[in-house]
Amino acid sequence: MAGKRVGVLTGGGDCPGLNSVLVGVVRKSIALDYEVVGILKGWLGMIENVTMPLTRDKVSGILPRGGTILRTSRTNPYKDPAHVEKVKSNFRAMGLDALIAVGGDDTLGVAQKLHENEGLPTIGVPKTIDNDLCGTDRTFGFDTAINIATEAIDRLHTTAESHDRALVIELMGRHAGWITLYAGLAGGADVILIPEVQMSIEEVCRIITERHAHGRDFSIVAVSEGADLGEGVVLQEKKLDEFGHVRLGGISERLANEIEKRTGFETRFVVLGHLQRGGSPSAYDRYLGLRFGMTAVELIERGTFGMMVSLRGNDFVSVPLKDAVAKTRTVDPKLYDALRVFFG
Ligand code: F6P
Repeated sequence: MAGKRVGVLTGGGDCPGLNSVLVGVVRKSIALDYEVVGILKGWLGMIENVTMPLTRDKVSGILPRGGTILRTSRTNPYKDPAHVEKVKSNFRAMGLDALIAVGGDDTLGVAQKLHENEGLPTIGVPKTIDNDLCGTDRTFGFDTAINIATEAIDRLHTTAESHDRALVIELMGRHAGWITLYAGLAGGADVILIPEVQMSIEEVCRIITERHAHGRDFSIVAVSEGADLGEGVVLQEKKLDEFGHVRLGGISERLANEIEKRTGFETRFVVLGHLQRGGSPSAYDRYLGLRFGMTAVELIERGTFGMMVSLRGNDFVSVPLKDAVAKTRTVDPKLYDALRVFFG
């Protein structure tokens, strides 16, 4: 049926490729004679009814742009029952026939509840640099993040080598080690620490000391912000966000101090932080974004709601949102163990 009005919002942390999804949504909608309403600042825009028309002109030239032209927030309408009512009444006030939520597990969890509990016709698009959503082989944003992280590790190599230093780089990913594992391997890190597998400080120091014994006077350690050295995760802040998440951060400083103290090798640390999320998306993330965006509109055309678009192999399919947000996709410890051959 032509003439539908499709709402789209981007929620949670920004991520390279968000604008490509918007292009995918708009171009497929134009082909079907649908109108697209951009909702600003994630779920906050649904609560406050803040929108902008998303026309072909608005999405023209935005494929190389990082971030999201719709802005984003970590607002959770389920923190307050009155906000859920607002979302429902604004959905009607905006005259929407369907709502596409582009986000990670938090944003998609809200889309799932709105569908299941309130009967709203929602569709999810999996976004996160962390690549930790089950229900899809890949989220967009991850490819860009690992390329930025790998380049950072390459750069650390030359300075570490020149100074005979150990350099610890802290990477994002929350409770999943995908970014650290992929970038750590690609960048040739000598030790990789991820949240899924605990490694002691003694073990890290042993690997570094052995390298030195074999004539390698520098070392690179890639550590996930959510890794645990046997002392619990290191927090930047104890306060929880609206979805109940803590702010991780600080493990690289702790680790660098211990390495220097225990091995006697001069050690520095770098927290790569939001550089992993900023800037232009890779070609692959643009492609994924475009395909995810258009697939979301295809689901609306078919009247299939409560689903998340997903990549399975090379195919763009859909899975129930409920299954997609049920658990976090983490690194299999067996894979990590097999990859230890690259350490040291
Ligand atoms: O989920 C994406 C992510 O970048 C995580 O890797 C990280 O822990 C978190 O978001 C940081 O969030 P914020 O942008 O709120 O500091």
